[in-house]
Amino acid sequence: MLLQEGYRDRFTILELFSQPANHQLPPKRLNNFLLEHLVKKYIERTFVQFYLCGPALFMKMAEFTLKTMGYDPSRIFKENFVIDTPPPPAFMIDAEPKKVTIYMKHNQYQLQVKYPESILQAALKHQVHLPYSCRGGRCSTCTVRLLAGKIKMSINDVLTEKDIEAGLALTCVGYAETDVVLQVE
Ligand code: FES
Repeated sequence: MLLQEGYRDRFTILELFSQPANHQLPPKRLNNFLLEHLVKKYIERTFVQFYLCGPALFMKMAEFTLKTMGYDPSRIFKENFVIDTPPPPAFMIDAEPKKVTIYMKHNQYQLQVKYPESILQAALKHQVHLPYSCRGGRCSTCTVRLLAGKIKMSINDVLTEKDIEAGLALTCVGYAETDVVLQVE
């Protein structure tokens, strides 16, 4: 509300109540039809960025709607407070152990990682304290730069296509497809 008062000319709050206290108001719950309608009505396409916060299914609905409307995923940001336990990887990569080399704070570590262990799991097991937080591909704390090799991620809610092209990867949901070399930045 303070923001709205301070920036009256360029800040609008829309309030939708599924159970309005004022019975004159029609109940409204944000769904994909309503979201699409509101976005078309209120948002200039050029410089928009979307920040989503709420229950996981709500954010999925909003993200899906925005992507279907043609908005670039790099313009959609989400705030996750509850992290589901990440499901096991839905793919199989060959179960031969892979050599993972990690450069972190002027140190070099080498470990063997064997599918279905993620790189983060293997590192922690070997007392290599890679950074992490959610362990579910949603916060980006565990981001590393891939210097060589291939990593497959089972979930990725934070890195954009550009990030991935630039060599960034998540270790918490990252599985070594080949021997890999990583840099913790
Ligand atoms: S620890 Fe959060 S994305 Fe990996």
